[in-house]
Amino acid sequence: MSGRRILVTSALPYANGPIHLGHLVEYIQTDIWVRFQKMRGHECHYVCADDTHGTPIMLRAEKEGITPEQLIAREHVEHSRDFAGFHVAFDNFYTTHSAETRFFADDIYTKLKATGLIYPRSIEQFYDPVKQMFLPDRYIKGECPKCGAADQYGDSCEACGAAYAPTELKNPRSAVSGATPVLKASEHWFFKLSDPRCQAFLREYTQREGKHGTVLQNEAANKMQEWLGVPGENKLTDWDISRDAPYFGFEIPDAPGKFYYVWLDAPIGYMGSFKNFCDKRDIDFGAFWKPDSDAELYHFIGKDILYFHALFWPAELEHAGYRTPTRIFAHGFLTVGGLKMSKSRGTFITAHSYLEQGLNPEWLRYYFAAKLNGTLEDIDLNLDDFVARVNSDLVGKYINIASRCAGFIAKRCGGKMADLSVKDAPAATDFALFQASIKECQERVAQAYEERDFSRALREIMAFADQANKYVNDHKPWELAKQEGKQAELHAVCSLALSLFKWLTAMLAPVLPRLAESAALFLNLPGLRWTDSCSPLPAGHAVKEYQHLMQRIEAQQVTALIEANRVSLEPAAPSPQRHAQHQQSSEDKQQQPSEWEPFIGIDDFSKIDLRVARIVKAEHVEGAEKLLKLTLDLGSETRTVFAGIKSAYDPATLAGRLTVMVANLTPRKMKFGLSEGMVLAASSPDGGSGIFLLAPDSGAQPGMRVK
Ligand code: 2FM
Ligand code: ZN
Repeated sequence: MSGRRILVTSALPYANGPIHLGHLVEYIQTDIWVRFQKMRGHECHYVCADDTHGTPIMLRAEKEGITPEQLIAREHVEHSRDFAGFHVAFDNFYTTHSAETRFFADDIYTKLKATGLIYPRSIEQFYDPVKQMFLPDRYIKGECPKCGAADQYGDSCEACGAAYAPTELKNPRSAVSGATPVLKASEHWFFKLSDPRCQAFLREYTQREGKHGTVLQNEAANKMQEWLGVPGENKLTDWDISRDAPYFGFEIPDAPGKFYYVWLDAPIGYMGSFKNFCDKRDIDFGAFWKPDSDAELYHFIGKDILYFHALFWPAELEHAGYRTPTRIFAHGFLTVGGLKMSKSRGTFITAHSYLEQGLNPEWLRYYFAAKLNGTLEDIDLNLDDFVARVNSDLVGKYINIASRCAGFIAKRCGGKMADLSVKDAPAATDFALFQASIKECQERVAQAYEERDFSRALREIMAFADQANKYVNDHKPWELAKQEGKQAELHAVCSLALSLFKWLTAMLAPVLPRLAESAALFLNLPGLRWTDSCSPLPAGHAVKEYQHLMQRIEAQQVTALIEANRVSLEPAAPSPQRHAQHQQSSEDKQQQPSEWEPFIGIDDFSKIDLRVARIVKAEHVEGAEKLLKLTLDLGSETRTVFAGIKSAYDPATLAGRLTVMVANLTPRKMKFGLSEGMVLAASSPDGGSGIFLLAPDSGAQPGMRVK
């Protein structure tokens, strides 16, 4: 397929926080795909922008004593620096606070209104009488109406998981001023998703299969069916697209004092950025956005914002007379070592700190690519695996091919390639075999890239690198170089190896663009196209002097990175947060995930039956290094528990003490006998600061429940 015209976007980052590795999963993924399409010769444009509007940005600027415009200008510089640092090559990185985005927001709003899909309705909301502003749900705190937990947000309780309206909170207060909010009515503008036209369109669209594939991945399509309900069931509620002043955003033209909700103009920012780009490059914007456009439009997004991209956004476009997205590519979240990124663990790693610590951005690009498979699954950054994989695949397999042969070409062969096509020339048969297999390999790799299954693409490429290394190992140029009469063979073997290296470089170029550039310089090629991944270096072609192309990662570099990002725990500021399930609160996303997530509900906690227990007897266990055998009085019964506290306690001092035990832990058969529960003790993460058995306050009795 050639001559495709493709427009690609990544989700717009909020302009009130740094780019971190979680963001980069998406930008690197999109960038790889775009680079692949460009290498294939397609017309492909990649645009993005900062998402600049909304209450959090307004309040953040105020807190810093600057204007929102100053804040977003500063963030734009930082974001652009970070993206460039990771070789994310947008064709245009713009801002939603632009004339172009305003134009399309007004245009879409006006057209939707003319079709009867936008209407006003008065609603009552909490209002901060001191700050004189309506409060988004995440800016209201109070006690949970279900479990009574203190200090809960206005939309859901982190203690018991209940979802509710902010008006249900007990003793609500404004997280902005601390004042008690009052209910106040105000007129809002709604997009009528419940309209039969929207329902009918979305039912068809979310199941659509076009010539480039299904609009949604299976898992996403199923989720949409859940949200839409069965046919006839009108589950979608109308969407509130306006906010009252004060608000940082675009004022709605025919509604003074009302602003578009940030999520209304955010995706319109894709159009705004592309229009800005088209004007600079003299590209026909309309050809990409008219309803019958044959150009392809792809949005890469996190799975938490599917609701906006697969429902609201296409419904808006469809009914405002624009084309709808060809496909929406959702991906999962990033975990580090199997856990959510965490500031206190040092795994909330900013893009800037990674670069500042001197780590190579292409290590991360390679690692992410090796994990990405085009599905909604979360991807894990395992730091040991990161070091091992980059060192063994990139340095040990790929770079190794060039580094072992380049010196001989330079020193022994005049820096030029041998002619491998001459019949009976040394290596001619091997060369023909490699040529036959690279063509097929290259096609499989292309297919995998196209399907965004980068992990499969890299597996194919590394399997080919293994064959190339085997070839070099089998022919041992370092030995040929020492033998009389082996010059022609040495030349042929090293020339063949450098062609294999070129093929691998071209296939790796979407993932490792800088490395591919340096390799192309060494190979003395102007740049690499996809077709270079199976055409050999011609006879007589001169290569340049080889310079080492990539360093190994040292494990200490990763440790230093974690240390640089570790921050001590502070009480959480009343900062707003996005909950995937509560799409209406998405503007209020906090950039940093909490140390304590995933939270458990009170029901989870109540499953653990904690009881006060008296230690009746504590004994050494023959042959056990760490264990003491405890006999515990639970009031109604006696239990035996083996506890790993020997290093901290002399058994003689324990008898008679009260402690806390898990009474409903499944009994565990140990080498020394049956352990019927567990006692609770505190320790530092590495146990280095000692072990401290928990004890209740005086007066507690054996058998009392701890809750
Ligand atoms: O969730 C977010 O980070 C949003 N800023 C993404 C917006 S994507 C698009 F709709 F603009
Ligand atoms: Zn609760």
